[in-house]
Amino acid sequence: MKGIILAGGSGTRLYPITEGISKQLMPIYDKPMIFYPLATLMSAKIKDILVITTPEDQKAFQKLLKDGSQFGINISYVVQPSPDGLAQAFILGEEFIGDDCCAMVLGDNIFYGSGFEKLLKSAKKNAEDGYATIFGNQVKDPERFGIMEIDESESGTYVVSVEEKPKHPKSNYAITGLYFYPKGVSEKAKEIVPSERGELEITTLNDMYLQEGNLKAEILGEGFTWFDTGTFDSELDAANMIRTIENNTDRIICCPEQIAYKEKWITKEQLEERAKVLKKNNYGKYLQRLVDKGK
Ligand code: DAU
Repeated sequence: MKGIILAGGSGTRLYPITEGISKQLMPIYDKPMIFYPLATLMSAKIKDILVITTPEDQKAFQKLLKDGSQFGINISYVVQPSPDGLAQAFILGEEFIGDDCCAMVLGDNIFYGSGFEKLLKSAKKNAEDGYATIFGNQVKDPERFGIMEIDESESGTYVVSVEEKPKHPKSNYAITGLYFYPKGVSEKAKEIVPSERGELEITTLNDMYLQEGNLKAEILGEGFTWFDTGTFDSELDAANMIRTIENNTDRIICCPEQIAYKEKWITKEQLEERAKVLKKNNYGKYLQRLVDKGK
């Protein structure tokens, strides 16, 4: 299975900050924003990852993430010439995806909670069986998001409808920025007609799978935290949450190096190398502790 991190966009909601730097490179407490979605894909055990950026920002992402070998994965890059919609990622990534299933995570989405790996595993299995999977999370302000109307029965959760930022939302389940698709997603993305705002909408793509009876949903339950860090406040909230969790547990969360080491994608020596580079702060000290513990 392949994975895409969509890290382009105009970032105008965060001007003046993002006039000079890509939003997904900004810090969320102790690491760049893009480390969080990267950790999500790595937790799904996806090792081939395409990072889609604006033409101006590609170099900065390459400087940060390189070819991915420091995390034991393969990272490649493609530019999105203009922000024409989330679903365009599958057209830009057609060659990269090839004849494979593909997950996509938005570069500004943070997922953290227990049982996440199990959900990711099940979404991956769905994709292999020909189904797309979206993840729902209850929110206070549903008009800001893609929304799924669901039917929860004993046999599972069924999606009834999906709508992009509806004026009158049918539920408060936001569709989060993490999507798993079966083979053939690029072909489907090419069939999308641009919306009124001129974008290839991810919600239109999800609706295509829904109309075919091939869309599944997972609900991120209690004890799960999801952030779309698209505003000043949500970014600060996310940073505060990460800080609180890390200070209370003496851990670094959503840490790509740790996932890579746990999966044996990098050796102890490689981890120690990273720990040395980051040794001046708690992140590096944490990596060194992992080396010393051997896990
Ligand atoms: O975060 C979840 C929400 O993300 C979903 O509930 C919505 O259904 C989905 O449309 C999206 O809504 P947003 O309003 O957050 O989308 P936005 O235009 O802000 O783009 C999300 C991220 O993707 C953002 O970091 C910029 C990037 N992006 C966006 C577009 C339109 C690109 O890289 N390229 C693009 O063409």
